[in-house]
Amino acid sequence: MTETNRRIVLRRRPVGMPVPDDFAFEEVPVPEPAEGEVVLKHLYLSLDPYQRGRLSEAKSYAAPVPIGGVVECRAVGRVLASRDGRFAPGDVALGGFGWQTHSVMPGRQLLKLDPAEAPVSTALGVLGMPGLTAHVGMSDIGQPKKGETVVVSAASGAVGAVAGQLARLAGCRVVGIAGGAEKCRFVIETLGFDAAIDHRAEDLAAALDRTCPDGIDVYWENVGGAVQAAVFPRLNDFARMVMCGMIAQYNDADPPPGPNLGPVVRKRLRIQGFIVSDQWHRLAEWRALAAPMLRDGRLRHREDVVEGLEATPAAFIGLLQGRNFGKLLVRLPE
Ligand SMILES: NC(=O)c1ccc[n+]([C@@H]2O[C@H](COP(=O)([O-])OP(=O)(O)OC[C@H]3O[C@@H](n4cnc5c(N)ncnc54)[C@H](OP(=O)(O)O)[C@@H]3O)[C@@H](O)[C@H]2O)c1
Repeated sequence: MTETNRRIVLRRRPVGMPVPDDFAFEEVPVPEPAEGEVVLKHLYLSLDPYQRGRLSEAKSYAAPVPIGGVVECRAVGRVLASRDGRFAPGDVALGGFGWQTHSVMPGRQLLKLDPAEAPVSTALGVLGMPGLTAHVGMSDIGQPKKGETVVVSAASGAVGAVAGQLARLAGCRVVGIAGGAEKCRFVIETLGFDAAIDHRAEDLAAALDRTCPDGIDVYWENVGGAVQAAVFPRLNDFARMVMCGMIAQYNDADPPPGPNLGPVVRKRLRIQGFIVSDQWHRLAEWRALAAPMLRDGRLRHREDVVEGLEATPAAFIGLLQGRNFGKLLVRLPE
């Protein structure tokens, strides 16, 4: 084709915050499409926090961009030429096109967009991956209930804005955390949140106490770091923490000291506390399951038995020091 594709490739892996020299611009001719392929000129590229992860070699849920490779992203493009019967020149489509002006893609990897339905750029935001993220995280994990308090970090952003609004629609009190007065105003006046906290200007602990007097029932985690540290002790019993992202540490060369919750997102970990007394009604179920296994040796156990009531305090202290070996019991004389 006569068209030229301008593209951005990864020149070297960024160390810490990426700098422009980590990337290089290239110009290459746009190839002719093969059977089933579509040529697109991109209208919008989507820039998302996850792309920082793709620039690094660290193990993740997706392969890194190779050195010299086009930086990946989703994009919306207009069809210039097509050898796929489903697309005609002028159509607009969504696909994973990368940081470049053109792409040639198999038509089966594209989603045709209807510009009459909504502005096509929304396919990368509120009606696209970030919107879906908010929907999935809120409905599957956050499960906000009427009257609950929901805190959303990076609240003015692509994901946070939708997540908070979904919680509002569910009848919750929603507090957004955002950087700067303008973003905070937007969170309240445009998105309709009940309150906003400026994490760049306010003392987070005091601001959370002021805006969440009844504690926090759902925390939507987008940032980690100091925000997470301030939210964590204010979570109510049975609160849900939607571990969506921890952007504050995406540029860290080394994980922060202490427990690092970053892998909770990357590895889709589920962390949930529980108290067995809530499940007491299931004791009969457990006994029916375990007793036969205990009898035939599939289930083993060990008891550490001390004799007489007098031995109790010392045995208990020993338990806290690891001196017991097995289930610690005090045997009382019959
Ligand atoms: N789990 C998933 O499948 C999934 C999918 C999509 C996105 N995500 C995650 O969701 C989060 C939000 O993504 P998004 O696309 O909606 O981005 P975004 O919120 O539109 O943009 C990122 C925002 O993060 C905030 N931020 C950046 N560095 C920060 C820091 N050091 N401390 C506190 N805040 C900081 C900034 O907002 P302020 O100025 O307001 O601080 C910035 O505008 C990210 O962590 C992303 O990785 C996860």
